[in-house]
Amino acid sequence: MGKKISIGALISGGGTNLQAIIDACESGMIDGKMVFVGSDNPDARGLERGVKHKIPTFVVNYKSIIQDYKKEPEQVILPDDFDLNDILSKQHLFSDNAATEKVKSFITTRAVAEAKLLEEMKSYPFDLLVLAGFMRNFTPYFIDRVNTDPGVQRIMNIHPALLPSFPGVDGYGDTFRYGCKVGGCTVHFVDYGEDSGPIIGQKAFQINEDDTLDSIKEKGLKLEWDLYTKCIQLVAQGRLKTVKMSYTLKNGKILQRTVVKIAQPA
Ligand code: GRF
Repeated sequence: MGKKISIGALISGGGTNLQAIIDACESGMIDGKMVFVGSDNPDARGLERGVKHKIPTFVVNYKSIIQDYKKEPEQVILPDDFDLNDILSKQHLFSDNAATEKVKSFITTRAVAEAKLLEEMKSYPFDLLVLAGFMRNFTPYFIDRVNTDPGVQRIMNIHPALLPSFPGVDGYGDTFRYGCKVGGCTVHFVDYGEDSGPIIGQKAFQINEDDTLDSIKEKGLKLEWDLYTKCIQLVAQGRLKTVKMSYTLKNGKILQRTVVKIAQPA
C-alpha cells in the first residue's frame, strides 16, 4: 500500500455516505484518511458521525448568509478576490444569458459562503474533497480555488440517478415519477454545471411493479455506499485521469466532452 490520501467531506444531512467512507478508510478498503467534515447546515445529523470518529468538523451556515444578504445586501462583506463577471462568464448553473438580479444574488451569496468554506478548509490540507449529500451547487469561485492544478480534478460528488438523466435535488424521486424501469446512482467530478461533470462510476438497480419511492431510495443508497468508496479508492490508487474527447457527429458538428479514463490496477 502506498501513501494514504487525505479526504475532506462536505455534507448537508444524515451522512450515511460519509459513514461508509469513514468506515472504508478505517478498514483499509480506501487508502485514505478523513481530515474534516464540513456542512452548510448546523443541524446536519452527519456532523455527529465525524465527532464520533474524532474528525474535525465545521459549519458554514449558508441559510443565514443568504438571509443576511436579502435583508441588507450592502452590509455583506464580499471576498477580496471576488470577481462577479469572471464567475458569470464561467458558470453553467444558469443559461448563458441569464445575468439577472436573481442570478447575481445567487452567485454573490454562494461565493460569500464558499470563501468561508475555503477559510475553514485551509486548516486541513486535502487531496480529495467528497460531497456526500451536500445539497449546494458550487460556483466557479470555489471550484477554481480547489482545482488549482490544471487537469487535476479534486471535487467528487455522488448523485442519486443515472446521469445525465435527472440532475438536481431529487434524483430518486424524479426516476420514480418518470416511470423508469431501472434506477441508479452516479459518482462524478464536479464541473461548472449542475451534476454535469465527468462520470467516474455508475450502478443500476431494477425498478419493479411493487417498488415505492422509499424502496427505491433504500436500494439506491446501498449501491451508493459501495460505489462511492470504490471510486474514492480509484483516486487513492492514482488510477483516474480526465481526457478531453472530440467527436464529429453525422451532421458535421463537433462534440467535445471531458471524460474519465480508469487505468488498470498496477
Ligand atoms: C444520497 O442519496 C446522495 O446521493 C444525495 O443525497 C443523499 C444523501 O444521503 N446527494 P446521506 O446523507 O449520505 O445519507
